[in-house]
Amino acid sequence: MIGIIVVAAGSGARLGAGQPKAFVELRGVPILERALANVFGSIEPAQVVVVAPASHLAAARSISARAAGAASGSVSVVVGGATRQDSVANGLAALDDSVEVVLVHDAARALTPSALFDRVTRAVVASGTGIIPSLPVADTIKRVAGTAVLETVDRSALVHVQTPQGFPRAALAAAYAQASQEFTDDAALFSSAGHTVQVVEGEARAFKITTPWDLARAENVLGITSSIRTGVGIDVHAYDAAQPLWLGGLYWPDEVGLAGHSDGDALCHAICDALLSAAGLGDIGGRFGTDDPRFAGAHGDVFLGETVALVSGAGWTVGNVAVQLIAKHPRLGARRTELESHLTSLVGAPVSVSATTSDGLGFTGRAEGVAVIATALVQRTA
Ligand code: CTP
Ligand code: MG
Repeated sequence: MIGIIVVAAGSGARLGAGQPKAFVELRGVPILERALANVFGSIEPAQVVVVAPASHLAAARSISARAAGAASGSVSVVVGGATRQDSVANGLAALDDSVEVVLVHDAARALTPSALFDRVTRAVVASGTGIIPSLPVADTIKRVAGTAVLETVDRSALVHVQTPQGFPRAALAAAYAQASQEFTDDAALFSSAGHTVQVVEGEARAFKITTPWDLARAENVLGITSSIRTGVGIDVHAYDAAQPLWLGGLYWPDEVGLAGHSDGDALCHAICDALLSAAGLGDIGGRFGTDDPRFAGAHGDVFLGETVALVSGAGWTVGNVAVQLIAKHPRLGARRTELESHLTSLVGAPVSVSATTSDGLGFTGRAEGVAVIATALVQRTA
């Protein structure tokens, strides 16, 4: 199990916004909520612990529940301490026993892409060491004494580092328990206890919002990121006369069924792929492994429900979905309206359904199976 500690208990003195930094709005959404949307967009299910100022525990709870969506059972809020290190320690104390890998993340890095959480997690699991994201230093670096320049430092051996920083949980907890001084990041504390730390590639978008200038930069980044995206999904299943037919989340009596690891509901699967594609969350194969017992034999509406939760957790609202069946049978005609309203309620946005044949050509023309094409439109939430 992965644990992600999101520290949000600082006062934000340098931002000077008159309230703790994590609760300052960034284009209408609190910094903490933006950070958590990206946390919940990562692939591995995780226990998320938000560390908040004592004055803002209730606000942190409602923001966390909103960002977690369907995963709200896996998020908790604890109070922070006087320093960042104290806040991380409080977060560590709230982790379930089952957590083996822990990521520590600054809420102030609100735009950190979900993929960075996955990259750090994978590297900790693979290496068993501490892992921190880093980027090369772009500027020339000088060593100075007052106003006097002493030397140019070789920047090829320097990087600047970000969060999330990931660690084997037991070793980090032990290092925290024995730490007797303040460190500037978790990796420094971890290596002071004799452990190895390695870097992975960081992300420009993981920059920390510290000053009003950084907040303006984050607003600009959001402004130039298109707030509307489309996605596409295709699914194909062969007919299997031994199976009942499930299509679009509905049961179709007296129709030839479809083969597949789950119920073969190509309509729901294509919609899932289109939604995941639009939100930049990969595809159904990557999200719902065929070895995951939760999805063996699962009906299409289970995948659709999980997918919609993932998409909204990553900060997207579904605009609409269009889906087309290419098949000799079943004939959708009589149940098209029923299908559309069922899928619309599952997705929470209008779903239009159409059907065609392929004029006798290809596998659909020979009635060997069905193909489905779906597109989805998603919009950034707020
Ligand atoms: N943090 C924390 N508890 C503290 C101090 C900091 O949880 N006692 C968190 C902040 O909320 C932030 C992260 O650590 O998400 C990085 O710290 P920083 O950017 O320094 O935030 P602040 O301490 O809030 O800002 P400032 O130093 O300007 O007051
Ligand atoms: Mg600080």
